[in-house]
Amino acid sequence: MDPYQASKETEKICRLAPVIPVLVVHDSDIAKPLAEALISGGLPVLEVTLRTQSALKVISEMAKVPGGVVGAGTITKSIDVKDAINAGANFAVSPGSTDDILEACAQQNLPILPGAATSTEIMRLFDLGYSVQKFFPAEAIGGQAALKAIGGPLPNVKFCPTGGITINNAKGYLDLENILCVGGSWVAPQHLIENKDWKSITDLARTASKIAF
Ligand code: 3PG
Repeated sequence: MDPYQASKETEKICRLAPVIPVLVVHDSDIAKPLAEALISGGLPVLEVTLRTQSALKVISEMAKVPGGVVGAGTITKSIDVKDAINAGANFAVSPGSTDDILEACAQQNLPILPGAATSTEIMRLFDLGYSVQKFFPAEAIGGQAALKAIGGPLPNVKFCPTGGITINNAKGYLDLENILCVGGSWVAPQHLIENKDWKSITDLARTASKIAF
């Protein structure tokens, strides 16, 4: 999948909901109820970070849940792309963008939300054809003010910012013209996952799903 086509696919995914839950899941047994809790709250796009031993199993379990679009996050090397595809991931998310990762996604037809943090990184990705990018770590690198400023010279790049985004600042991001959606872990906090408090997670998802209005 060439970068232009990949960006079209990524944009479609980013437009499905205002928030992509960023998930760190240690126990694959809870993958299904966690996905169901988020999807039923109105957040169908799920990013499972490859930061736990169980992450690939979690992706394969979540990929079976109707109504979900499951991505593999924290892609940091090209082998992660193959693993993510084998697990059933629909898309990839990377904190930064190496040639190896971009090439692996292109060769293996996996849409990617490639990470960028500076104007140079954003311009390089855009030159390659990636018009939808992850802005990371958003709050630490200037947040809304930075994205607004970047939108001046680079209005055709759209972003999913992540890193430090919460219920309190998400709407400010979503109000910017160059933002398609935001990513964040606040909709599935560890203590609620550990307590299997699916109702509270659905409530957080429901609030997040309506945040843009
Ligand atoms: C991450 O990769 O950890 C995401 O950016 C989520 O960040 P958050 O925990 O600050 O929402």
